[in-house]
Amino acid sequence: MPDLVRVCSENELPAEGKVCEMAGGALCVARVGGEIVVLDNLCPHEAGPLGQGMIEDGRVVCPFHGWAIDVKTGAALEDPAEKVWVYEYVIQDGALLVRPQNPSA
Ligand code: FES
Repeated sequence: MPDLVRVCSENELPAEGKVCEMAGGALCVARVGGEIVVLDNLCPHEAGPLGQGMIEDGRVVCPFHGWAIDVKTGAALEDPAEKVWVYEYVIQDGALLVRPQNPSA
């Protein structure tokens, strides 16, 4: 089981309804309905930067062509077979810690 990786301090997390890029552009971090969500930053459509998008109807919307990503499943509204990874995380000692994807999972 991979170790948790520190991504940022708690005070760098986005405000409600906002989205941002973290980890050098590898992750999209958003706050939706009061919850932090951590997704892969690359849109499953054509690799647009989800962390530069916006929140609309509780989904992260890609800034390139507007695909809407479900923050619970990572599935695209436009094509549910297309998904981004949704990371497990904890907020501990004032920091966001993310469990890296396990490529063999
Ligand atoms: S690259 Fe995200 S919608 Fe096209």
